[in-house]
Amino acid sequence: MKKRIAVLVSGGGTNLQAILDAQQRGEIKSGEVVLVIANKADAYALTRAANAGVDRCVILKKDCGSSQAAFEQAIIDKLEEYRIDIIVLAGFMSILSEFFTSRYPRRILNVHPSLIPSFCGEGFYGLRVHEAALKKGVKVTGATVHFVNEIPDGGEIILQKAVDVLPGDTPEILQRRVMEQAEWVIFPRAVELVCAGEI
Ligand code: GAR
Repeated sequence: MKKRIAVLVSGGGTNLQAILDAQQRGEIKSGEVVLVIANKADAYALTRAANAGVDRCVILKKDCGSSQAAFEQAIIDKLEEYRIDIIVLAGFMSILSEFFTSRYPRRILNVHPSLIPSFCGEGFYGLRVHEAALKKGVKVTGATVHFVNEIPDGGEIILQKAVDVLPGDTPEILQRRVMEQAEWVIFPRAVELVCAGEI
């Protein structure tokens, strides 16, 4: 029985695309993406889900009275409706509380665009992570896929991959290289490992 996967997104969805492509190529074979949930109505990731014929929905915090607990409950209700086994955070820009994370131990995966424990935790997301890496002058950065617990970017590490920082890098150039060389490679691999019960 394939694990039923939900992917939570907020933006462009290139990591969602990498997962859908890996599934298409048969590299993810122990699970299937059956639902995409966005917390932004205009997330391009929703178009990617539609193109792949995957069910999708938008859940906005402001429609939940701007309450984090009500927002998380609305997500849980959807996950239950779809009998979801594995939850994948792919550029999901909202920190989930312990109320949510404790419900799904070792069943929520996240990709973070640095080598944890560098440049992670609250306030480190998206381009900000690469800005911080460049500011610090590190010569190597990368990406990390980890299980999600109540500590932002603090859960058990599943896979990591290093990427060189090159002279002349801007945050945008570095972000793209980290995505291409690390995130899109290790995230689908980690999803398969978890779905196959190999970790
Ligand atoms: C990715 O670089 C991902 O690692 C990062 O946001 C981007 C989403 O891109 N996530 C975080 O910073 C989480 N803390 P995508 O929407 O194209 O996948």
